[in-house]
Amino acid sequence: MRVLAIESSCDETGIAIYDTKLGLMSHLLYSQIKLHAQYGGVVPELASRDHVRVVLPLIDQALQETKLSSKDIDAIVYTAGPGLIGALMVGATTASSIAMAWGKPCFGINHMEGHLLAPMLEETTPTFPYIALLVSGGHTMLIDVKGFGRYELMGESLDDAVGEAFDKTAKVLGLGYPGGPQLANLATLGQANKYPFPIPMKHKEGFDFSFSGLKTHVVNLIRKIEKEEGLITDQIRADIAKCFEEATTDSLVRQTQKALKAKGYKTCVIAGGVGANLCLRRKLTALPDIQLYYPRFEFCTDNGAMIAYVGAKRLESGEKGSLHIQLRPRWPMSELLPF
Ligand code: KG4
Ligand code: ZN
Repeated sequence: MRVLAIESSCDETGIAIYDTKLGLMSHLLYSQIKLHAQYGGVVPELASRDHVRVVLPLIDQALQETKLSSKDIDAIVYTAGPGLIGALMVGATTASSIAMAWGKPCFGINHMEGHLLAPMLEETTPTFPYIALLVSGGHTMLIDVKGFGRYELMGESLDDAVGEAFDKTAKVLGLGYPGGPQLANLATLGQANKYPFPIPMKHKEGFDFSFSGLKTHVVNLIRKIEKEEGLITDQIRADIAKCFEEATTDSLVRQTQKALKAKGYKTCVIAGGVGANLCLRRKLTALPDIQLYYPRFEFCTDNGAMIAYVGAKRLESGEKGSLHIQLRPRWPMSELLPF
């Protein structure tokens, strides 16, 4: 089974072709970072327009590179949510138009399921069941992954998603967009434990997270230092970035460890954009007796390959297409069907 996938949920256009026997055959990504950087965040209207501009040339490039044509593709899939509605519509309408013209099935894929299963694109893959820490710009979730499409949400953020907390704190520190990777870079120059930070949810039962307090803590800390020392030097900013990153990742690791223990699992997966964070990877790798899996960097953040993978597996298990476009800007993974 071979699918052509379109990912357009936010500010990257991802096109990929995945074959259940041959694996990933093509994977192209166009990032709109430069377009949105001047506004300090994603502007939905501009995102949709830019998807429109690049989606067809990218599909053409993927087909040319692989020397494939319509007869070699069994289905077209697209990201149907969660995401920005206008951006999702570009991928969905493009996919269904191509599917109609080619006479192929077409169906929507859950973006978060894509992130969750992205580690399956690697050479060594985790075996079910496992605990997944799914950390992106819009979500922070601990999931008991029992099998394909069998996901139990154990905990999630009660306020900001962790990627959002990284991005907002980066802004407070005067860093550009996207803030997460820039904050992580700055943190490499900082000293841990320079400033005391609270570890969110440390004394709470359960597996939920909370990150909005950390950003507020940074705002207050900067005010205090400005008052006392008059100037925020580059070194102070780096120290704050480091302490923020330590507190954030400590909280993520703590809850993940609790979830692994509660289920008695020895396998853990990190996925989503914040899964690219090296400090987080280091801490989870150090957990005793736990086998950790994560996708390569380019498959942590948004990409078409993860959507193509889920599409191909779902097609193989008998999922049927429909030319009726169904978009779900909010789409809980618990509503997905097993496959
Ligand atoms: O999964 P993703 O590409 O898009 C969403 O589905 O949200 O995640 C993007 C998020 C952004 O908030 C970005 O700042 C964060 O992932 N991110 C990082 C790092 N790389 C990306 N956060 C911390 N450290 C990183 N190295
Ligand atoms: Zn994403």
